[in-house]
Parts: sequence; C-alpha cells; structure tokens
Amino acid sequence: MERLQALVFQAVTDIGAALNGALVILGTDLGFWSALADGQPITAAELAARCGVPTPYADQWLSAQAASGNIDTETDSTGAVTFRLSPEQAMIFADQDSPAYLAGGYHIVRSVYEDLPQIEERMEAGQGFGWHEHDPELFLGTEQFFRPGYRTHLVDEWLPALEGVHDALTAGARVADVGCGHGVSTAVMAARYPASSFFGFDYHEASVERATAHAAEQGVAGNTAFIRAAADSYPGSDYDLICFFDCLHDMGDPVGALKHAREALSPDGTVMLVEPIAGDALADNLNPVGRIFYAASTMICTPSSLAQDVGAALGAQAGPGRLQKAAELAGFTRFRRATETPVNMVLELRP
Ligand SMILES: C[S@@+](CC[C@H](N)C(=O)[O-])C[C@H]1O[C@@H](n2cnc3c(N)ncnc32)[C@H](O)[C@@H]1O
Repeated sequence: MERLQALVFQAVTDIGAALNGALVILGTDLGFWSALADGQPITAAELAARCGVPTPYADQWLSAQAASGNIDTETDSTGAVTFRLSPEQAMIFADQDSPAYLAGGYHIVRSVYEDLPQIEERMEAGQGFGWHEHDPELFLGTEQFFRPGYRTHLVDEWLPALEGVHDALTAGARVADVGCGHGVSTAVMAARYPASSFFGFDYHEASVERATAHAAEQGVAGNTAFIRAAADSYPGSDYDLICFFDCLHDMGDPVGALKHAREALSPDGTVMLVEPIAGDALADNLNPVGRIFYAASTMICTPSSLAQDVGAALGAQAGPGRLQKAAELAGFTRFRRATETPVNMVLELRP
C-alpha cells in the first residue's frame, strides 16, 4: 500500500506538471510573468488589469502557479491574497537572460504533445520522424532551452578547457558549428572571438534562416555564415575547431559525421563534442536529468536519427563509452572528457 501511495503521489504530481506546462507558456505569451518580474506583491485583479484579461483567468492562473510552487503568496489579516515572484522564481520564468531561465523548455514539451499522433503512426510503421517535420515550437524551445547554458559556460569554461583552443580562436581560427540549429552557440563564440570565422551548418533550412537573423541581431553577422548542409558533406577544410552541440545523437550516421569532421579538420585541429550528460549504464541515468533526456530521445532524437540514412539511433543518453567508440571508428585517436555541467559533458576529440 505504501508503494502504491508513493506511485499515486508521483503520478498526481506529474499530471499537475504536464497540465501546468501549458500555463507556463500562457504566462509568457500573455505577459503574466513579465508583469510579475519586479517581485512586487500583486492581486489577481491588478494582474488582470495589467495584462488585459478578465480577473477570473488571472486568479486561476496565479493560484495554479502558487500550487506549483512557481510563485509565492501572502494572505493579510482580512483574508486578501497577494502574489509575488521571488528573485529565484523570476530567474526561472521571467528573465530570459538569466542563466537559470527554464520557461523556454516548455515549448519543447508543447511540440511533443502537438506531434504525438504523427510520431505514434511512424513508430507503428517502423519509420523515423525528421527534425524538420516537427512543430516549430520545437525549434523555438530548443533555442531557448539551451541558450542559458551556452551563454553561461561555452566561452568562459568549455572552450578554455580544450587544449590550445582559446589561444587559436583569439589569434584567428576557422570554426565549424555542425547541426547549429538557430546558431546560439555560433553567435556566442563569434562575439567573444572577433578575429575568428564561424560557419554554422544545419540540414534544416528554417533553422539556417533563423540562425542568420539571430547572428545579425547579436551583431556578429560579420564573422559568421550559416549554410544549409548535412553533417557528412558540408563544405570547407582546414577547420581549427569543429563543434557538435547536442546534435550528434540526433544524426542518422554519427560515425559518418565524425569521419567528415576528421577529414575537414586541420592537422592539429580539435572536435568539441557536447552531448547530454550521461553514464554508460541505464542505472547511471535514472535521475531527473536522464528522465528529461530519455523522454526527449523517445519523441525527438531517436525518430530524427531513424529518419536518416544508417539510423544509428545513439539516443540522448549515449554515454561516454558509446561516443568514444563512434569517435574511434571515425579515426580519432585521442578522446578526453574536458569538462561538464549538470546537463552536458564536453568531449575533446583529436586526430
Ligand atoms: C537538438 S538540435 C541542436 C541545435 C543546436 N546545436 C543547439 O544546441 O541549439 C539538433 C540539430 O541537429 C540538426 N541535424 C540533425 N541531423 C543533421 C544532419 N544529418 N546534418 C546536419 N544537421 C543535422 C537538426 O536540424 C537540429 O538543428
């Protein structure tokens, strides 16, 4: 009975989280989070007036966030309730520039529910479902979910952890960002290293277009170029650094992609492989981070890989052992775990 109660409690918590995910997005779209960002106490009627919605909507939304622990409440002696965001809650939900901003991740969740019927059909037919076939919420969500990590860690921790790479980029190097998506990682590097040239490649046309626009917004159009190309055939040679940010496992042929990188690399160049953090055994990954990545892998990464030639389906929790094997098959002789965060591991591959 105790075990049953614990599982019931978990399922109830999960159903609440799954339902409230829609409310987190709604809070962004209708400006609720922004209206609360200053941390001042606010009533439901005040929030409603600020955001131009009927009070009952604001009242129920605020109450749902309070029940979720996403917002604090106070009740005065007359029983009047006010709501306020703590600084930490504001970092997660209201401040898109905070290193802890997570509200963007809910767009990924939304895309998964949106695409569910088609993914089910493809699974039953034994087919994949390409990255490009997903609801566009996935692309927005991916940009927003990974952006805080890249802005926080990429140029201050990850690149300096690679042998000689910071100095090469400072002096002026050629860099490829393969599977660049919306190019957030490319733009972060290009801003820090103006003497270097950055080439973002992705097979998804809409992502390449967005990456180009994003680079212009970030003021790095001058030393970036985004080109539609697959990981096993993008142009150019003599790259000093070739990066894969959270995309190798989405590819049908990760060994083929690494082989192409090996050929396109300068003789003393480096591949930086950033993948979701994971251990080699299932038991290592049975934790909240592994839970997110296994779920995303089932609905997004594995179908993406199976939609491409080879269909290796590494999965989003491949672990260092399988990644090292792929690197060795591609001809890399040196493989090192350079650094990590609670979410990513950063692997250095050299010829
Ligand atoms: C999870 S997203 C990561 C995007 C970006 N690197 C980031 O970290 O935000 C995976 C990306 O890999 C791209 N991709 C998948 N297979 C590819 C392939 N064979 N060649 C080039 N890009 C590919 C997808 O289009 C998508 O943009």
